[in-house]
Amino acid sequence: MAKILVTGCAGFIGSQLTERLLAEGHEVVGVDSFEDYYPRAAKAGNLAEARRSSRFRLVEANILDLAVPDASERFGVGLSDLVSNADRVFHLAAQPGVRASWGATFETYTDNNVLATQLMLEAAKQAGVEAFVYASSSSVYGDTDEFPMREDAKCRPYSPYGVTKLAAENLCQLYWRNFGVPTVSLRFFTVYGPRQRPDMAFHRFFAAMESDRPIEVYGDGAQTRDFTFIGDIVDGIMASPVAPPGSIFNLGGGSRVSLLQALGVMGDVVGRRPVIEHRTEQAGDVRDTLASIDRARETIGYEPKISLAAGLEAEYAWFVDARPL
Ligand code: UGA
Repeated sequence: MAKILVTGCAGFIGSQLTERLLAEGHEVVGVDSFEDYYPRAAKAGNLAEARRSSRFRLVEANILDLAVPDASERFGVGLSDLVSNADRVFHLAAQPGVRASWGATFETYTDNNVLATQLMLEAAKQAGVEAFVYASSSSVYGDTDEFPMREDAKCRPYSPYGVTKLAAENLCQLYWRNFGVPTVSLRFFTVYGPRQRPDMAFHRFFAAMESDRPIEVYGDGAQTRDFTFIGDIVDGIMASPVAPPGSIFNLGGGSRVSLLQALGVMGDVVGRRPVIEHRTEQAGDVRDTLASIDRARETIGYEPKISLAAGLEAEYAWFVDARPL
């Protein structure tokens, strides 16, 4: 049994990682600020299962606030104690969303993605943790035509969001090389499944189909994504702390599917043909993604198992029966 710190523990991925860690007998301290990017009720619902465990403790705070000198008076604990008391850190807290990262909201991205990660790494530098796992993103690659995307390819992000995720990933590398913080960065590829964020494509598409609204497809729908099921992502995260420090891995689903193909599968799952309305392409969206997963397969035994059809069945079942909103 280990003591684990999970940041972003109420999120789509963080909450399901937390549940897996608790199921394996670990003690988990979760940090989450319940940012209002999507409704609090969704995040509270994500955490309901974890909160039933006596081995789970929630600290509701933003990492930036936890790093100020009087944080322990406000929150009962400060960032350096939280990190020092952990054997391993899974740093998933972030401001997500590719298309929303332009304009005035960019400050939230620099605060919650870059600055927060730097504060976590500073705390880890003092603490001597066994592993510091950072949730990176396929968006660090940008709009490329070299497929599959390999970890050693040039990274040229195409959205402000991708810039912040890459900056934080670079910080992880720097803190490993300069101070020996044992960081591992995991580049997630468009994760879907139960609890998917309400701003993401499949969640929006199910919501539209269920309320007989047309589905808004940005562009022609021929753009492709390497969609990755949440259970496979959690398997990959769980396996990652043993990786050599300083490593970077893609965690993808293993295949490239166009939005229109995915919509065809969704139609079969729901039992209704989707009605599509095409909208203009969105700034920051890359055309295609496809992960090379050779490195993750060879080093941490990562193997995605869930097909798109099975994964969409699971997301739809959750959407209809278990979604808290
Ligand atoms: C997703 C996540 O939202 C990011 O947080 C994550 O970092 C990223 O994956 C990643 O792989 O790293 P994205 O690929 O944009 O970003 O995922 P979706 O929101 O599910 O969008 C997939 C595709 O559907 C995009 O081409 C988007 O333009 C399109 N889309 C989305 C629509 O056509 N209509 C919508 O209503 C929503």
